[in-house]
Amino acid sequence: MRTITLINGDGIGPEISQSVVNIIEKSGLEINWDVQTAGSDVIETEGTPLPQRVTDSIKKNKIALKAPVTTPIGKGFRSVNVQLRKTLDLYANLRPCKNLPSIKTRYDNVDLVIVRENTEDLYAGIEEQIDQNTAHSIKIITRQASERICRFAFEYAVKNGRKEVCAVSKANIMKLSDGLFLESYRNIAKEYPQIKPKEILVDNLCMQLVQNPEKFDVLVLPNLYGDIVSDLAAGLIGGLGVAQGANIGKDYAVFEPVHGSAPDIKGQNKANPTALLLSAIEMLKYIGENSYAKKIENALYKTLSQGYKTADLGGDLSTTEFSAKIIRNL
Ligand code: NAI
Repeated sequence: MRTITLINGDGIGPEISQSVVNIIEKSGLEINWDVQTAGSDVIETEGTPLPQRVTDSIKKNKIALKAPVTTPIGKGFRSVNVQLRKTLDLYANLRPCKNLPSIKTRYDNVDLVIVRENTEDLYAGIEEQIDQNTAHSIKIITRQASERICRFAFEYAVKNGRKEVCAVSKANIMKLSDGLFLESYRNIAKEYPQIKPKEILVDNLCMQLVQNPEKFDVLVLPNLYGDIVSDLAAGLIGGLGVAQGANIGKDYAVFEPVHGSAPDIKGQNKANPTALLLSAIEMLKYIGENSYAKKIENALYKTLSQGYKTADLGGDLSTTEFSAKIIRNL
């Protein structure tokens, strides 16, 4: 039986984790969940929001499913999410965005994949206060990280039957940093003649995404553009309740929804488990459990097609009622 680390998070995390664990269990797939707590709940007892045992567990099991963990704003501890990405060198942030059945949005036929570089750019955290009225934040772009993320995007395209990988930059203005990203992309693109290359400036991309999102396939972006564009893309398919994600490195992968811990609806049995379930489905595909992934995906799609929804999508089902409908459709 496969062992997978489960970080059930805080806020709505435990509720949606329970729902997803139940659905996977009822699909017939046996998984030994190595449950690890993290975040503010463990600070008092263990002195840190990300105890060593959590990273040790992921290092041992290689794969984790993670529900959201709260990060205090402007004070308190550093984000558990950012720490995990750094410690495990999870350099690729993968966010597939696809329309789901009967979730009405402004667009049909959205089926794009965002590949965001996760380790550098303005997120390197190199900032300095020059004087009271001036602050600097340094944007780091390296050939090594740019080539690595572009290769990841092309490999993903090949493995998943995608046709095009489009590089997103602002290389007309940031000629050195974004220029290096683009040059790295062009070098890697030559190794994949079967995939169509494309380049676009990030401002033009935003305009085109809200006009014709169906025109895009795989997008590869430096960290900051990737962060912003992936939230825009989540909005195209129905919002945070359905936006899945994964952080993938050479040795380890952590699958998690895009959304946070939603403290406003914590403990009310209202949260939509779909984003975590879609992340889990992607995780099952990643570990080669394709038939169970398909079975669960079909059950989710059928449930949505039958009109069953949680409140965030205009429905009236609770987390547990919605999960029970999915289980019935397995
Ligand atoms: P959020 O994503 O938690 O919530 C934004 C809005 O979306 C809220 O109204 C919430 O109720 C709703 N929402 C989110 N997920 C939902 C779901 N599954 N079903 C129904 N409604 C849902 O963003 P917010 O409020 O900015 O962040 C709350 C906390 O989460 C913060 O401490 C933040 O740092 C943390 N966070 C953690 C992440 C992670 O663990 N990967 C990612 C993003 C934020």
